Amino acid sequence: MANPSPRRTLPLLMSPHKSGRSALTCEFRCGNACAHDVSNTSDNAYFGDVVASALSRRGVLRAGALGALAAGAGAAGVAGAVPAAAEPAPEARSGGRGNHGGRGGLRFAAVAPNREDRIVVPEGYTSAAVVRWGDPVLPDAPAFDFENQTAEAQAKQFGYNCDFVTFFPMGGHRGLLWVNHEYSDEALMFRGYAGGTAATEEQLRIGLAAHGGSVVEIERVGRSGQWRLVTRGRRRYNRRITAQTPMKLTGPAAGHDLLKTAADPTGTTVLGMLNNCAGGTTPWGTVLSGEENFNQYFVLGSGAPEAEKAALKRYGIDTASTTPGGRRFDRVEERFDLSRHPHEANRFGWIVEIDPFDPDSTPVKRTALGRLAHEGATTTLARDGRVVAYMGDDSRFEYVYKFVSKKRYIPGFDRHNRTLLDEGTLYVARLTGDSPAAEIDGTGKLPADGRFDGSGEWIPLVTGNVSHVPGMSAAEVLIHTRLAADKVGATKMDRPEDIERNPVTGGVYLALTNNSNRTPAQVDEANPRPANKHGHVLEIVEQRNDAASTAFAWSLPLVCGDPNDASTYFAGFDKTKVSPISCPDNVAFDRDGNLWISTDGNALGSNDGLFVMPVAGRERGYLRQFLTVPIGAETCGPMVTQDQRSVFVAVQHPGEVNGASPEAPASHWPDGGTSQPRPSVAVAWHTRGEKIGS
Ligand code: FEO
Ligand code: CA
Ligand code: CA
Ligand code: CA
Repeated sequence: MANPSPRRTLPLLMSPHKSGRSALTCEFRCGNACAHDVSNTSDNAYFGDVVASALSRRGVLRAGALGALAAGAGAAGVAGAVPAAAEPAPEARSGGRGNHGGRGGLRFAAVAPNREDRIVVPEGYTSAAVVRWGDPVLPDAPAFDFENQTAEAQAKQFGYNCDFVTFFPMGGHRGLLWVNHEYSDEALMFRGYAGGTAATEEQLRIGLAAHGGSVVEIERVGRSGQWRLVTRGRRRYNRRITAQTPMKLTGPAAGHDLLKTAADPTGTTVLGMLNNCAGGTTPWGTVLSGEENFNQYFVLGSGAPEAEKAALKRYGIDTASTTPGGRRFDRVEERFDLSRHPHEANRFGWIVEIDPFDPDSTPVKRTALGRLAHEGATTTLARDGRVVAYMGDDSRFEYVYKFVSKKRYIPGFDRHNRTLLDEGTLYVARLTGDSPAAEIDGTGKLPADGRFDGSGEWIPLVTGNVSHVPGMSAAEVLIHTRLAADKVGATKMDRPEDIERNPVTGGVYLALTNNSNRTPAQVDEANPRPANKHGHVLEIVEQRNDAASTAFAWSLPLVCGDPNDASTYFAGFDKTKVSPISCPDNVAFDRDGNLWISTDGNALGSNDGLFVMPVAGRERGYLRQFLTVPIGAETCGPMVTQDQRSVFVAVQHPGEVNGASPEAPASHWPDGGTSQPRPSVAVAWHTRGEKIGS
């Protein structure tokens, strides 16, 4: 029976989440993950066991890392130290000349922390929404009408809660924007929403249609850095992908019994993608989109076969409750009921490749990249031209992965390149600190050697059809990747999210958002604070600066929080000059190699924002806030265009604060007045057309 109070039907208001994230976000984004037990109950050490072999290896790795540093490719990278095969992301391929190696040269007055219901940018800049939830994507889409939503309309309109954003210039003043739609927040989308059990079937279908992704054509406004949605003409590339779009499963696990269902006895086709969070692009111009908290969409895991429950549980799926909760999409599509279709959940949690330039193409779930709560996948090239994809598994105490293709990328050979992500080696990271454990005391105080740092190794899990994990076949390793990684002693991290390689220095940067569950006994040099509220950033320098290496050096250039908090660290930069930062989530680089960081769940009491920090030179660690997003929103994207005149951000879940509803919206962004908040992609630019940040 429906609860009379819509608010009270949602367990969200008691969320134990310790960041600034609202209870609504916890409920709809990740199914209250923080309220549940940690899924990783493996006894992996919080650093892989510091066994003798690792200790002896450390000296070798350290020497290798120092070699890389001496070559100017590492933490203190020198201008011009471009890796042999620097990342040719589509956006980065179109022109551009010299750079500063992430050395800074950024000149703008940092935006102060605030609680304003607008995008706040530095003096001299302005911003505008580019495309909003409900805006027509397909030419025959109706105009958005909050009060009269339909699933049919939503499937043609811009979806909800935009996350990953990437931009493909098309020459002239046009370009394509790809945007992930991570999740629906029915409590803000519908008046009087009373929870999944009481939702109308049309509301459920609208929710499914609000997921997925969008391709939209955009155009430059005059000669400025502003871009706007193209609203006329054929818009031949525009596309909506939803939770029902037919997709293929390819790679070594495709066709495995664990992927077969009544609707798909071949285990090779699946409808839709779910909870697509961050992502990346490939050198051949496609999008890689990560299915993250897919577990929350499935109900009645209690009715799944006993033999499969351990794996379901390892992915955060409830296998005990006999009372379905959450959105209840099973009410309109029974495949979400695991008691009837226990393998359906195995068909989510993949990296999905989408060709934004072919609206008729079938998106592909690449099983060779493993099944996780994929934050995203970002690519680079190894020295020999093989494709490397870095990936985080965004849950507390989960792991960091990379995939190295078997074959090399061949520029222009599209048919070949599109097979590269189907065969290769999947690795998981094990990190070791180089300071005595006693010096990592949980206060954030740097150890005697002055750095949280050490060495690491990429442990192979599977190569093509050959498993490296005892007791598991190659397909099982790919479908139950978390279980496989548990067995090889991977290092438990503080929510590893977006990870990207610096196209200038070759360093790899990983956002570790937070982990309120880490206990004092569980701190290690790579995750040095217990009850980690504010998160940190990890820098990886691959041996020989080669992305295909199996050894690396690492350090923490950024330990987040209020700079007045003694436990924070900004790469040794003067802390009186930096901006407070909390919960780093997405990372991106501009053409100069500066690190851009967006945040999710500011635990310092102000709105989330976008920050930029040089990673080399005298200004390494000089972190400044470039913009803040409206009340209740998280900053996603971000994307600095190659001409560095525009920065796109996804403003996800504006107004998603405790107690908010359509009757009492907490935000009116972007339309103002008394309007309902609409998740939207925005662009910021300098009013005189100057380079962003300069
Ligand atoms: Fe969807 Fe990990 O943030
Ligand atoms: Ca150290
Ligand atoms: Ca994210
Ligand atoms: Ca990114």
